[in-house]
Amino acid sequence: MSQAIYPVRPEDAARAHVDAAAYERLYAEAAQDPDGFWRRQAERLDWTTPPTQIGDWSFDEADFHIKWFADGALNVSANCLDRHLATRGDDTAIIWEGDDPADGRRISYRELHADVCRLANALKAKGVAKGDRVTIYLPMIPEAAVAMLACTRIGAVHSIVFGGFSPDALANRIQDCDSRLLITADEGRRGGKRVPLKANVDAALAHCTSVDTVLVVRHTGGEVTMQPGRDTDYAEAIAAAAPDCPAEPMGAEDPLFILYTSGSTGKPKGVLHTTGGYLLWAAYTHETVFDYRPGEVFWCTADVGWVTGHSYTVYGPLANGGTTLMFEGVPNWPDHGRFWDVIDKHKVDIFYTAPTALRALMREGDDWVTRSSRKSLRLLGSVGEPINPEAWEWYHRVVGEGKLPIVDTWWQTETGGIMISPLPGATDLKPGSASKPFFGVLPQVVDAEGVVLEGATEGNLVLAASWPGQMRTVWNDHDRFFQTYFTTYKGKYFTGDGVRRDADGYYWITGRVDDVINVSGHRMGTAEVESALVAHAKVAEAAVVGMPHDVKGQGIYAYVTLNAGVEGDEALRKELVQWVRREIGPIASPDAIQFAPGLPKTRSGKIMRRILRKIAEGEVGALGDTSTLADPAVVDHLVANRVS
Ligand code: PRX
Repeated sequence: MSQAIYPVRPEDAARAHVDAAAYERLYAEAAQDPDGFWRRQAERLDWTTPPTQIGDWSFDEADFHIKWFADGALNVSANCLDRHLATRGDDTAIIWEGDDPADGRRISYRELHADVCRLANALKAKGVAKGDRVTIYLPMIPEAAVAMLACTRIGAVHSIVFGGFSPDALANRIQDCDSRLLITADEGRRGGKRVPLKANVDAALAHCTSVDTVLVVRHTGGEVTMQPGRDTDYAEAIAAAAPDCPAEPMGAEDPLFILYTSGSTGKPKGVLHTTGGYLLWAAYTHETVFDYRPGEVFWCTADVGWVTGHSYTVYGPLANGGTTLMFEGVPNWPDHGRFWDVIDKHKVDIFYTAPTALRALMREGDDWVTRSSRKSLRLLGSVGEPINPEAWEWYHRVVGEGKLPIVDTWWQTETGGIMISPLPGATDLKPGSASKPFFGVLPQVVDAEGVVLEGATEGNLVLAASWPGQMRTVWNDHDRFFQTYFTTYKGKYFTGDGVRRDADGYYWITGRVDDVINVSGHRMGTAEVESALVAHAKVAEAAVVGMPHDVKGQGIYAYVTLNAGVEGDEALRKELVQWVRREIGPIASPDAIQFAPGLPKTRSGKIMRRILRKIAEGEVGALGDTSTLADPAVVDHLVANRVS
């Protein structure tokens, strides 16, 4: 743990929406009078019916429910577009930077409004109605934001599937929420390579019957097969549509979007966010944590396929009338200076990225960074995984030239937006600590039995109260929602993360304590990778754990037991890696595969993951008690054949 402290700079405190005194006051207000606090905050949105009911929730089984602003009505696209037209219709809403540095566009609020209305009308013409689900499988191009906002305009529920997911993963996500319509592109571009999105869609739809319409954006111009009756050219569909579409007033608790995320069990969960509370949380946290003011260029590098892209590439910045930068490419192409070149090119004020990208760039040397000016930058942000102090210090010293504050923001798909983070004008920074809770967030540290620990301590992170941006359910499985988050510690939301709190009340997230691993800031369920592996004809059993990885944070370590008579060799290892990539997507590629004749199990047949984790971490001297194993000799074999 780093001992360094970087105090708030006077210039940041002076310009900030929230300085240290305001933080204390607002935090206390939100904790003591949540209804009064959130009633006032709700005024930052345009409501067609202002809410009179504010928080209405209980985490107890007998009365389990979560509602915010339930009698209010509003429309998300009207809040992100229409209300800005009179004052800043000609301001840039989206700066698009293509994978190829020669590709780019700037889209004003007025243009974005017209595009969204056209697509909304086109969706209606295709029979999409309020409440219908629309799957979006697009690269990072402006049409992704247009598609999201067009759905919200008519009350359709979007489900974005990251373009890196395989046809099977896409098919599962389409089927789970029963989407009728899908929006995709011919191909995506990443690092000079093409991603065959439409071909993946064709493969996925071979298993899905619910989708009757596919809109295809011509992005690269690559060859695709269009299935008559089902597939329509996106440009044709919107050319025929009017640039004006009334915004449907939605109940604050009407579904806004579904986003699938990995959990401890095999099947990804459809996290459901609703309209009022989510938008308020995205907008308010975006303004406060980044101390954002319209006119500043905000760049969040996350793909819209992840929650960070939802809340901080699209909804937060646009709700605040801001300018958001959407980047199609990758940090290391055409070279390792791409991020910094883009910052100079578009005069980016605020840059928000993931530790994994920083670690990868850090290895390439400082010259890539220092050859750029970066003088437009005012604030840096980090998200997705714990940032190790070395990466933090590099980000601060080299990228920020020792001057710029860094907000290390802890949150989850489930939380809708940032929950624990420094505020640049209020919080002294400690490298590696997400620091203090946002307004309305009541973190507690509990031990395994749920006893609340006070003061400087370490344990599991729970949240004792609801907040407006909280997910409302798991799509189609409300019981799973309750079981997953509210039963481990009764009456509290369990985050799945471990945490340490220091004597100054700063929170230090230590990582997942469940069977979820965080690979390059992306959540992967170990059970998902296991089920992909056992689906291979030669595999009898598999157990997957996380292992430390210099760049990715965590890597995927798979123990695989092969069917009798099958020999585990290098060729099979490669085949299994390819298999998992095909089943789930490249982000799930195992980093290490160890062939294991047996796995350590208790006498009742339960795999002892604790031991497998230790071996993968290389801590073979600290395996703990192995006496309860059915066959302790298994462990010796695993240790002797560890893949390093
Ligand atoms: O373990 C925490 C880690 O990422 C998990 C949430 O992943 P996901 O739902 O994909 O959302 C990622 C983007 C918000 C958390 O349970 N995590 C996220 N941010 C941080 C973090 N761990 C430490 N520090 C962070 N700033």
